Amino acid sequence: MIDTLTRRVVLGAGGFAAAGFLLEPDSGFAEAPLAATPACHNGDEVTLRQTAGPFFKPSSPERSELADAGMAGQPVELVGFVLSSACKPQAGALLDFWHADARGEYDNSGFRLRGHQFSDEQGRYRLRSIVPGLYVGRTRHIHVKVQPRDGRVLTTQLYFPREPKNRSDGLFRRELLMRTTEHAGWVAARFDFVVD
Ligand SMILES: [Fe+2]
Repeated sequence: MIDTLTRRVVLGAGGFAAAGFLLEPDSGFAEAPLAATPACHNGDEVTLRQTAGPFFKPSSPERSELADAGMAGQPVELVGFVLSSACKPQAGALLDFWHADARGEYDNSGFRLRGHQFSDEQGRYRLRSIVPGLYVGRTRHIHVKVQPRDGRVLTTQLYFPREPKNRSDGLFRRELLMRTTEHAGWVAARFDFVVD
């Protein structure tokens, strides 16, 4: 019953069914696994900086779930650590995420698909949202600002692997690819930020 209604709403809303489905409360996220401590490599480099672009808005609400109930799009859960260049987890780091909706549009009047959170005592963060849509000139991406306690802001963008437009987007950088795994209906993504 719910499935039927959902499908009808999706189709009625303009044919997003092919791109994903409506995100419902408790829509079957399993938690993406994340160890209590990071896997460290010698010589981890500080995460590449990128432009914030024209759509950043300060003062986003504090929340880790960005998608509202009923929002079209494929659910994605992004998890990872905020680390120093010596691979020390950074507790209490500010992470401010913003991205386009499934149609590739930003909310520039409100705070839809915008939110900030703080890394936990183990330096971990967890973001739940929908996979952003494409817009002219850009491959699929998530914007973020990361600021460790008493540290400077790192502004960058995260990219999805296996996206055809990664090859034609001049801003795309391989170093900013998330690792992703497709689950039944949702995407688990992983990215560790290294800040100086
Ligand atoms: Fe963007």
